[in-house]
Amino acid sequence: MLYFINNYCNIMYYSSLAAIRRAFPPSDKKGFHMPRDASTEKPLVELVNVTKIYPPDVVAAEDVSLRIYKGEILFLTGTSGAGKTTLIKLICCLETPTRGLIEVAGRNLSRISSAGVQRMRQKIGVAYQDFRLLDKQTVLQNIAMAMEVTYASPKLIRFRVEELLELLNLSDKRDKLAGELSRGEQQRVALARAAANGPSLLLADEPTGNLDPVATELVINLFRYLNERNGTTIVVATHDESIYADTEYRVMSLSKGQLSAHPSRAPHQIELFEA
Ligand SMILES: Nc1ncnc2c1ncn2[C@@H]1O[C@H](COP(=O)(O)OP(=O)(O)OP(=O)(O)O)[C@@H](O)[C@H]1O
Ligand SMILES: [Mg+2]
Repeated sequence: MLYFINNYCNIMYYSSLAAIRRAFPPSDKKGFHMPRDASTEKPLVELVNVTKIYPPDVVAAEDVSLRIYKGEILFLTGTSGAGKTTLIKLICCLETPTRGLIEVAGRNLSRISSAGVQRMRQKIGVAYQDFRLLDKQTVLQNIAMAMEVTYASPKLIRFRVEELLELLNLSDKRDKLAGELSRGEQQRVALARAAANGPSLLLADEPTGNLDPVATELVINLFRYLNERNGTTIVVATHDESIYADTEYRVMSLSKGQLSAHPSRAPHQIELFEA
């Protein structure tokens, strides 16, 4: 019974596309809403003095301290090799820190069992910079896979996959093999897969690197939808200044593994969110 109630709620939650578009019309004004006051909340993700050194001596993260709050959208910027992907991988347990502490949802990642990591990963959607799609599987199968491991019903899986495909303008590609898509299409499939489970935390690594402005706008609208409707916390690692230039959300900058507030940010935001 609970199973049916859950699925029904999920379907209602992901209401019709028309409703989504009414709620989140494509906007010509780039940018998101103001972040909430984080001063009284416990962070969803906390890094304390985290250093990551790849052998023998590449310092990809140096003494990074950062709090990410539930419901936040955070942009992680920096030049190539600055350490953005490393930070994303540390948060989702694909890499372990050389020094320092990382907590996600109050759990110390260095003390979590491998079964615990698996469970936690079901709540974290990751859109990898290199996509990591299964080339010989269709678009539909690639996205559905993320939901199948959570025992979602076939009906719900179909509904959600179709919805994400439509939001990302990929509906006509659903039965194509992932390996036959363009890079920009693959990038959007990777995003749809990361979002399929309605994750609490979405980590998107260069999500617009291969996209034109129209497709970029679709991705931004998807982030908005997930954030405002589901409360998804979103971390976007990006070079693409166009997606954070006018945003009112926090923008952090990485340089040679060192993290600081982006120079363009207003002083009050730096104060509010500095760890
Ligand atoms: N597995 C690895 N082994 C050794 N060095 C690595 C490894 N992964 C990353 N590095 C190095 O760590 C540094 C940070 O890399 P990272 O991929 O985090 O940067 P990035 O900011 O994501 O770059 P880009 O914008 O090009 O994606 C780089 O100097 C890189 O060469
Ligand atoms: Mg990277």
